[in-house]
Amino acid sequence: MSQTFVPDADPRAFRNALGRFATGVALVTVAGPQGPVGFLVNSFASVSMDPPLVLWSPARTSSRFGHFENAQHYVIHILAESHDDWMPRFARDGAGFEGLPHEVNPEGVPVIASALARFDCERHAAHDGGDHLIIVGRVLRAAMTEGAPLVFSQGRYGQFTGR
Ligand SMILES: Cc1cc2nc3c(=O)[nH]c(=O)nc-3n(C[C@H](O)[C@H](O)[C@H](O)COP(=O)(O)O)c2cc1C
Repeated sequence: MSQTFVPDADPRAFRNALGRFATGVALVTVAGPQGPVGFLVNSFASVSMDPPLVLWSPARTSSRFGHFENAQHYVIHILAESHDDWMPRFARDGAGFEGLPHEVNPEGVPVIASALARFDCERHAAHDGGDHLIIVGRVLRAAMTEGAPLVFSQGRYGQFTGR
């Protein structure tokens, strides 16, 4: 039986209902003043084909928010099933890029070659998203490899087994 609730009165239930929407997982990267910074998100979405636009939304309360808020260039990496060990790495107080091999793209942004897909973005727009900021990027170039995506739903990671 379905349960009805008002998000303002029951934010936990709201969060749980949102978790019913299965997503992939992405790592957004920028060149920070002290080195590469990564932000693990599931708020990635495609927006437009012409021009090529994608979006994601960082929380304003995140310790990394300042690195991404006004970034002119950033890279969105779509994680493969084999990247589930990146979760603790990019959680609060995780190791981040320490010991993680990477290169830089022509805009100087750190890129990780093993990503399932990669979108090198230039800042296009940013919109109010309540306690998040909706950042829209124009995709300057993209790359992809073969493999299976990491899937996230209801707080758990898993595999996609299509029919
Ligand atoms: C699967 C997954 C998806 C996430 N998606 C988002 C997101 O879309 N936006 C966001 O602001 N934080 C998201 N987070 C949380 C951030 O990764 C957050 O930065 C992290 O919990 C560490 O907090 P800190 O940035 O304050 O250090 C997500 C975390 C996980 C594990």
